Amino acid sequence: MTTQVKTMSLITAPPTLPLIAPSILSSDFSNLGDECKAVLNGGADLLHLDVMDGYFVPNLTMGPALCNSLRATLPDVYLDVHLMVNKPLMYVQPFADAGASLFTTHVEAEDDPLEVADAVRAAGMDAGIAINPPTDVQEILPLIESFDLILVMSVNPGFSGQAFIPEVLTKVETISKQLRPDQRLQMDGGVSLKTCQACKDAGCDVLVAASAIFGADDYPAAIAGLRGH
Ligand code: DX5
Ligand code: ZN
Repeated sequence: MTTQVKTMSLITAPPTLPLIAPSILSSDFSNLGDECKAVLNGGADLLHLDVMDGYFVPNLTMGPALCNSLRATLPDVYLDVHLMVNKPLMYVQPFADAGASLFTTHVEAEDDPLEVADAVRAAGMDAGIAINPPTDVQEILPLIESFDLILVMSVNPGFSGQAFIPEVLTKVETISKQLRPDQRLQMDGGVSLKTCQACKDAGCDVLVAASAIFGADDYPAAIAGLRGH
């Protein structure tokens, strides 16, 4: 077990809740820096980066180099990196070096989640753990005390623009009851103006949205709508 000095962050000590996290997966990649600045100037609290390896999910997206570019152009932004990969351990140090703030691994990945959490903390990042819609909540409950953020997937991961799976809300309610005040509960997938209230009512305090923000004409209005105030 690594000795860890716990530091406060946007996730463990948020100034306001819920936090709104645009997923850049639906942004215009040819204009990525400006897209990120537009959502942050429009009220977003952080940026969500979806990393896919083509094995854990049937898609390929972004890696540490992209994270590094965003860190260089946005030195103060909180970068939430969601790893949908089979072997997250090998990417901990590369993403730490690239300036990631939060490293979220999946309970369904091949590496031991607690080993990943230790490595993530030792590398200076916050640690998150995610669970897919078909996975029983019991798989994650014994692990949650070791993580700063729990991510409940409300679509089967791999692509933005999918329909919200409402059955995962019971999972959120179960997890929510067991969290400390310094832990966050994040929902990711199909979060929109139609579904966001149910997410918040169930206990989510970090909402990820790709298409509901980057597919909107007015980013500030979309972000304010999801936040609800
Ligand atoms: C899906 C990703 C999500 C995705 C969300 O695998 O983890 O972050 O970008 O997209 P929307 O909000 O469009 O469902
Ligand atoms: Zn995601």
